[in-house]
Order: sequence, then structure tokens, then C-alpha cells
Amino acid sequence: MTSAEIRQSFFDFFKEKQHTIVPSASLLPQSPGLLFTNAGMNPFVPYFLGVEKAPFDPPRAADTQKCIRAGGKHNDLEDVGYDTYHHTMFEMLGNWSFGDYFKKEAIEWSWELVVERWGLPADRLYATVYAPDKAKGDPGEFDQEAWDLWAELFRSKGLDPRVHIVDGNVKDNFWMMGETGPCGPCSELHVDLTPNGDSHGQFVNGDSDECIEIWNLVFIQYNAEADGSFRDLPAKHIDTGMGFERACSIIQNTKGFTDFSVKPSNYATDVFTPIFRKLEELSGKKYANVYPAPGADRSAFDDEMKTAIAFRVIADHLRTLSFSIADGILPGNNGRNYVLRRILRRAVRYGRQLGFSGEKTFFGALAGALVEQMGDVFPELKAREAAVRVTLEREEASFNETLDRGLKRFEDGLSEVKDHTLSGEVAFELYDTFGFPVDLTELLCAERSLGVNMQRFEELMEQQRDRARAAQKSTVVRALDISTNAVTEFIGFDADEVDALVLEVHPQDDSLFVITDQTTFYAEMGGQAGDTGILVIGALAHDVSAVQQIGSARAHAIPADAVVKAGDTVKLRVDHRRRRPIEANHTATHLLHWALHEVVSSDATQQGSAVDEDRLRFDFNSGPLTPGQIEEMEELVNEKINADEPVSWKEVPHAEVKERSDVMQFFGDKYGEKVRVVQIGGEPGTLTGYAMELCGGTHVRNTRAVGIFKIKSEGAIASGVRRIEAVTGERTWQFLRELLVSIEEEAVTMRDKLAAANAKLNSLGEEPVDVGDLPRIIYEALVQQRDVRKINEVIKRSRSKLEELKEAVINAEKRFKKLQASSAAKQADAALALLIEKGESIVTAVESDGSLLQELLNGLKKNQFAEAAFLVVDDGEKLHLGCYAGEAALGRGLKAGDLLRELAAIAGGKGGGKPDMARGAAPDRDKLEELEAAARLKLGVS
Ligand code: ALA
Repeated sequence: MTSAEIRQSFFDFFKEKQHTIVPSASLLPQSPGLLFTNAGMNPFVPYFLGVEKAPFDPPRAADTQKCIRAGGKHNDLEDVGYDTYHHTMFEMLGNWSFGDYFKKEAIEWSWELVVERWGLPADRLYATVYAPDKAKGDPGEFDQEAWDLWAELFRSKGLDPRVHIVDGNVKDNFWMMGETGPCGPCSELHVDLTPNGDSHGQFVNGDSDECIEIWNLVFIQYNAEADGSFRDLPAKHIDTGMGFERACSIIQNTKGFTDFSVKPSNYATDVFTPIFRKLEELSGKKYANVYPAPGADRSAFDDEMKTAIAFRVIADHLRTLSFSIADGILPGNNGRNYVLRRILRRAVRYGRQLGFSGEKTFFGALAGALVEQMGDVFPELKAREAAVRVTLEREEASFNETLDRGLKRFEDGLSEVKDHTLSGEVAFELYDTFGFPVDLTELLCAERSLGVNMQRFEELMEQQRDRARAAQKSTVVRALDISTNAVTEFIGFDADEVDALVLEVHPQDDSLFVITDQTTFYAEMGGQAGDTGILVIGALAHDVSAVQQIGSARAHAIPADAVVKAGDTVKLRVDHRRRRPIEANHTATHLLHWALHEVVSSDATQQGSAVDEDRLRFDFNSGPLTPGQIEEMEELVNEKINADEPVSWKEVPHAEVKERSDVMQFFGDKYGEKVRVVQIGGEPGTLTGYAMELCGGTHVRNTRAVGIFKIKSEGAIASGVRRIEAVTGERTWQFLRELLVSIEEEAVTMRDKLAAANAKLNSLGEEPVDVGDLPRIIYEALVQQRDVRKINEVIKRSRSKLEELKEAVINAEKRFKKLQASSAAKQADAALALLIEKGESIVTAVESDGSLLQELLNGLKKNQFAEAAFLVVDDGEKLHLGCYAGEAALGRGLKAGDLLRELAAIAGGKGGGKPDMARGAAPDRDKLEELEAAARLKLGVS
């Protein structure tokens, strides 16, 4: 079977068992605790928790799910390339029961598919069951039920269950998605891959490639809570995961289970061979299917081994990167984005082994090969191919720029190695200056049998984070320690106020968290800020400072001294002065999203958004926008605001709108059975608007309520991701007022400067520079009312007028200085000639350009002036000082350098030079007279 056939055969089998086949969800997880989707069950968490009902009849599903395990609880990064079966990204085939069938069917069907349909010899199969260590406080009980079910199946083939069923501990047989979330005991199927199939289960769970786990069946029944406890879920569920690449490996490498003489490898399957062929073509190197022994000395690998590892690492990393980028997760500097950047940089470094460099790159072409191979199963890869290629090429080029210098620094750092350990300082410098993720440095060290001083590295990182934190305003994030099964109905789409019944009250730190049966308070979700307001009990009103969603319940935080208990009726009132602008900003965000697609491209996918009462923020994938595009979007949005369009919403089954490209939704997101469509324009509630989005937020009822919309800024926040910040309503006027006032103020300053420069020109009998009248910027803008197009014109005109003014000021001042310098030079020459003729020491000051000073000093020298001179040129900003001592003065013991130093100090300045000539400068221009008097005294000039 080809890999495509194996995948299809899995789907077909579960379709026969009444499962709905669903597409893979995005790699961007919905659970807040996860870096990436790391298991097939992630997208179904709401169904397990009972928060949403699974929209399948019967409630069963099967799929292949893209998973990444490279960071967080499940992390396989370090093993990749060195063994036959670990990957950072893999497909997980799974079947699910949401409160429907349980252990019996799950176990029997897994056997039926693997043994009966695919033909895997039962004597090579081993099943594990959960055996907790109660002394250590492990959750749950020994899984006798699973043991019995497996035992019957093994016995049916004449096999001894005591050999073929292996007990597993909490680490191997109690499955958790992360620190919190749905979980339960599990049973795994392992395959004996030894040539004779006679290992008798000794390698099970032994981290060995001779016995590999291919399928994990999880019996979900608890939720792991933040406090470490396990809460029973409302129903029991099945969650299974089969490693698709492993299944392909075993089926293909054993020629359909007939030949176990060659050790199977995931890389020796048609999942990877097309990528290897392309890589061979690009590099001119050959791939050999060779693997190091576990724990082998990495510094002793020969070239063939190093090349084989590089092929595998690159192919693996290519998949992780391409699939992530296709799902809109791009390499960056934080969190999951940094995990991707690390992976990419590792791959680029391994590329060196294959002869790639800044001149000879590989990622773009390789991505093309992957898309061709996988694009049919994962259409998102095809749809976003251009983005995938461009991002990979850009990242590869950028790291290539520092990689060689960093490698050189690493080599230099090796000379400082002590105790076989590279210093934390060098690792930090490689990270900070050369962009080496620390695991890359660790890898380079491992290849030389060296370690890294990680403790010191972490210390330096922490110091850097402290510096960054100090530079930032801190926000307090509080993790709540509340668990509840309560359900709160949200009725705040149309109302600000409601009488509600208190269900539970939880004291937390300095607040009480009050859970009610219904509420008008929106809790922060989908980028919309949560509400604030008041909670009234009897005659007392308490401020609600925050609202928090906990499962299906909504809690309102009020001061800890409030007297309230379950059973009380309270009035909840949202602060509508805050809520209305939030709603206006949310509606404006939908309009902006729509306008972006109209003006820029429908490929400009949303990456995130945030709205609060002050502004809205919208992140999306795109190259930089032009000023023209920004203006056009702004105008389109305002046109719609002025068009008085109705904003309406409607709940519909997701299936009804899933395929509609005119209803914006996150590709790959799992939505509940019912979704809410927010529609702008068209007949209210008929899904005929021009801007329609799946959205759970609150909105204004009519676009007119947004008032006016203005984009404040547009810029990059990560490679290929742009952010727009915008304002609406009163905030727009505030923003415009500030903008216009600042332009006007600057214009007035410039106009005054121009007048001053003109006055000076006038004093020299020159024509003034004229730029005409100043526009009345604010007045002109304000009379335009809501017309953003006209306001933008005023802003543009004002800005260009301002530029014109600035230029005029510079020109006028330049002209004046030039004229002044030449007239001062003339005057000075004339004065000098007279003085030289007179033959007495001089003290004189002129207003001119600083360069005049040297000319004067040179003039004295050239004329062999015998006496002394102290000269000051005032350029309007500082005093330029010069001192000259001719032959007679020198004869009297005068030293120009000393004299200048002494005199300069009077006006706060410095200077010096030789006995016959010295120069300096002084800032205190108002000390000029004092200075001249002192100089006259020194030189004996009257
Ligand atoms: N959720 C289970 C796993 O990932 C099936 O192994």
C-alpha cells in the first residue's frame, strides 16, 4: 500500500463504523496551554469537557491530524534525524467517541483494523494496560477491563495474554494533553520488529526501534485541573492516535508484513522519499538509509552518516515549517513562533553539511516538492504555497547572513572551553548576536562531545528578560484557582442590565468571583475586551473590575468585602459608556477586514485582533501596504459607516455556512454545531450582507454608530505579518485633534522662524522669502465633518505646506549666513588692515560664521603683525575664540595658547594651541563683554 492508500484505508474502516471523517484542524491550537496542536484530540476538547455538543450523529469522528511535538510537554526535537521514528511534525490518525462507545469497541476495532484488515501478525503485537503505583498516588485503578478485552483477542489467536499484555506506569499509560485538560488511562499497541519476532515483549516502552508503539487508545474520563487534581468528566470518551508515518513504515518496509529482515524506518517510505529525491537533486549528494547506534559518539560520525542525518533533519523540519506557515504560524521571536525559527535555523545549519549556503539555498525549492506531494490531502498547503515559499526563503537568507560569522565565533569560543563545557557567555553571545537558538549551540557542542553551561546561559537570559521587563509596563496576569460546573447564559448582545441569580461565590486573593445564572457582561474572548460595570445587591453597588470565563460559567470580580452569597438575586449592569466604543471598534474591525480583502487581497488572512474602548488592532498576513491602499481602505470603511447599514447577527448550524467563502472564518478552526454569524449590510439576519464573519462578540446595531474611522498606523510585527491600529468615534476626533494641532503648531513655529530669517535678510537689504499664507488647518479639517477623504486632503496639504515652510526657513537662513559671512569678512578685512597699519594689539568681536576666525588669524600672520590679538566670532550659537601673538608680543613673554585657555574659561569654554596661535570655543555668549574686558586688560589694549 502507498501512504495515501494506508490513510484512506483507515478512513474507510471507520466510515464503516459510522464515524464522520473530518479534515485536520489547524496546527494553531485553541487550548491556551499548548504551543501547537500536539494530538488528534486537541480540537475536540470542548466536546470532552461537555462545554459543547459534538456535531456528529452518531457522536463519532475520525481524521488525520497534523501534530507538532517540538516544545512543551511532548517534545521530540532532539531525537529527530538520529533514529528511524521520531519527528517534529507527524500525522496522527485517530478515531473518537464523544460519550458514545468506550473501551470494548475501541480495543476490538483497533485489532480488527490492524490484524484482520491489514494483516499484521498477531504474534508480533503487544498491548499495554495502565497499572498505577498507588503508593506514589497515581490516579485511577489498574485497568482490568482493558486487560480482559486484550486477553480475549490474544487468546483467540492462540497467544498467551501474560506475554502479550504488558503493564505500563503512569508515565507511559496515563495520557495527558498538557498540564491540564482531558486525560485518562490508555492502552497502546506495540509491534515487535526484530527479524524473528521473538523479543517476547522485552523492548516494550524501552525507547527501542526494535519495538515500536503504533497506536494509543486513550480512555478519557478525567480533566486534569490546575491544582493537580483530577475531576471526573460528565461522560467517558475515546481518543485514539496512530502514528501515520510509523504505520506506513511498518507496512511498506516489511513488504506487507512478509519480510522483517530490514529494520523499518519512517524515512524509508513514500512519505519522505520524494523530498529526499528533490534534496539529492538540489545538493548533488546521495542519501543513504543508515542510522547511528543509540547513544553513539557524535564526534565520530563519518561523512555518509552526517549526510544521512542532515537529509532526515531537513526533510522533517521542512514539513513542520511548511505546514505551520500554511496555518498562519510564522517564524518569529516569541513562543511558538520562536520554536519555528529555531527549527528553521537548525535546518539551515544542517544544510551546510549538504553544501548549501547563502549562495546555494534549498528551502524554497524543497517546499515546492512537499506541496506537490501533500497538497491534495492538505489543501491549505496548496492555497498558501506562495506564503510558505517566500517565508522560508526569507528566513533562510536572513540566517545565512549571520550563520558563518556565528560558526566562526563558536570555533573561537572552543579555545575557551573548560571541563568539556562551552561557557554560558559564549552560548549567550551566539544567541544574542548571531541568532543561534541555544539548542543549535548544544547540537554543535554535542557533535564535538562537549556540553554547554546552561545554568549560566539561563542566568544571562534571565538578566536580559529582566531588562526587557523593566523597559515594559507590566500587566498582571492572574491564574484562577476555581473549578466549577456552573453554566452562565450570556444575554449581553442586546442588553446592558439584567437581574441574575448568584450560583457560586469564590474568594480569590483580594476579590470575590461571583458566578451567576445569566449575565450581560462580556468576558474577554476573541480579542474583544471584557466588560466592567457594577453588581448591585439591595441598595449597595459594587464595582465589577473584571469578568472571567471558567468552563461554561462566567465569574464577576467584585471587592472582597462585599456581602453576597449563592441564592441572592443581584442586578448586573455593564458600564455602557465603555461598552459602546468597544462595540463600535468591533464592528469597525469587521469593516476593516472586509475592506482589506477588497483593496489588498483576499489572501490577507487575519492573524489576530484586539478591540477595547480606546482602539482596535488587526493583524494579518501580507507584505507592506502602500499609503494609497491604507487611504483607500479608510475611505471604504467610512463610506460604509456613513451609509447607515444595519448590523445584525444570527445563529445557524455551522454546516450551513462552512463552505461559504463570503462568510469569513478561520480556516481549520473547529467550531461548535451552532455558530453566530455577524452580518453587515443586506437584509438583517438573512446572511446576505457584504461583510459576514463568524464571531461571538458584541456589535453596534448600525454602522452609523461607529461615527468615524481612522487608521493610526500600519507596520510589520513579524516577517510577513502586518498590524493596523485604528480608532473610531470620539477617539478619532481626539486623534485628529492631536495630529492637526501638532501640525499647526509646527507650522506656526516655522512661520515665526521664517519671519525672523526674513528680518535678517531685510537688514542686509535682501528680498524676503515668501511662501504665502498658512492654511487654517484645524478649522479646515473640522468643517469637513465626517468626510475622511476631505480630512485626509487637508492633512496632506498641511503636511506639504509644512515641508515647504521648513525648506524656506533653511534656504533663508543659509542665504543670510552666506551674505553675512561675506559682509563680515569684508568689514573684518578692512578693520584688520587699519589695525595692522596702526601696529597695536587688538581685541575685537564680530558676528559671523565661525570660519571667519581662521581667516582673520591667517591674515595677521601673513602680514607679520608683530603685536597680539584676541578675536571673537559670534555665530549666534557660540563664540569662536582665537588668539595671536606676533614677534614683539612673543618677545614680551606672551603665550597665545595659555592666554586663550584662561580667557575661554570665562565664557565656559575651552581651547588651546601654540604660543603664536591658538583657537577655542565657548558656549556662554552673554559673557562676551566680560571676556572682551578681560582680554583688553591682558593685552593692555585700551
Ligand atoms: N491522544 C493520544 C495520543 O496523542 C491518542 O497519544
